[in-house]
Amino acid sequence: FSVKELVESNCTSSVPSNYVCLKTPEDSILYDETDNIPTIDFSQLTSSNPDERSNAIHQLGDACRDWGFFMLINHGVSETLREKVLREGESFFDLSQEEKMEYAGEKILDPIRYGTSFNLMVDKTFFWRDYLKCLVHPHFNAPSKPPALRETLEEYSRKGKGVVEELLKGISLSLGLEENYIHKRMDVEMGCQVLVINYYPPCPKPELVMGLPAHTDHGILTLLMHNELGGLQIQHKGNWIPVNPLPNSFLFNTGDHMEILTNGRYKSVVHRAVVNTKATRISVGTAHGPNLDTIVGPAPELVGDDNPAAYRAIKYRDYILLQQNNELDRKTCLDRIR
Ligand code: SIN
Ligand code: FE2
Repeated sequence: FSVKELVESNCTSSVPSNYVCLKTPEDSILYDETDNIPTIDFSQLTSSNPDERSNAIHQLGDACRDWGFFMLINHGVSETLREKVLREGESFFDLSQEEKMEYAGEKILDPIRYGTSFNLMVDKTFFWRDYLKCLVHPHFNAPSKPPALRETLEEYSRKGKGVVEELLKGISLSLGLEENYIHKRMDVEMGCQVLVINYYPPCPKPELVMGLPAHTDHGILTLLMHNELGGLQIQHKGNWIPVNPLPNSFLFNTGDHMEILTNGRYKSVVHRAVVNTKATRISVGTAHGPNLDTIVGPAPELVGDDNPAAYRAIKYRDYILLQQNNELDRKTCLDRIR
């Protein structure tokens, strides 16, 4: 059931055939553009100096439009808390398989779910990844084991949501909308926040497998951080770019609901995770979305005669189910609501 178990029980240097992914030669060409990835300074975005703030909002809008991805510095979340999340998050996977299986929920929107790959019911090949997924807002859920994890994730989720709410103000303004537009339209107050801890153990043949295949996220904005091992790659202008985050920075990527709301002005970014031979990579992604029962379509303010609505409105809950019940594959989920 888990890649961790597989790795620990398998002393050979092979990869089971059901983990071998088909890859095209282009898939493995990487472009080193780390220096060009936009960096947003959170302290400028929240500055009381109007020029500084408007400059940061402008940069944020450009980052969402041109990349769908940015690094955030000076976000105010301590390195101590970030390290605790990574360390205690990893320690969940060190519980016995029996203990972890208590959390192996059956339904996609179960409040706590431990699992492997993406969705075993639909994956054509399995991915080299175990995960723990918790719905952390509007109601906070987390496993009670290991003991410290719950409190750490609670604090981290709350701080992450605070940062995201500020970013959404800046993003609303960058679109020429009122500062609280996204907040109100998506009912972010009661928004669905999902925290996922990804566990990618070392793999004897990383070139044959994927940690997570090319996909987009369902929400508005995802906050991501990972331990010192690289592995995240984003697609920019058709090229795969490995991401090497600045020290202490958070990574953010736009999700499908950003693309839906802005009617394609800010597109969701395609990304994937690769694995390595050396050590376990841990990443923690927190997806911030509308309330599960909110129906979202393109903002009327961003739709016009020359720019007709490109997506049909859909309840967020239904969109998540649509994504999770189908093979994870680039932007195919968005294509289903065009
Ligand atoms: C994700 O796309 O959800 C995770 C990406 C990563 O592990 O860096
Ligand atoms: Fe993702």
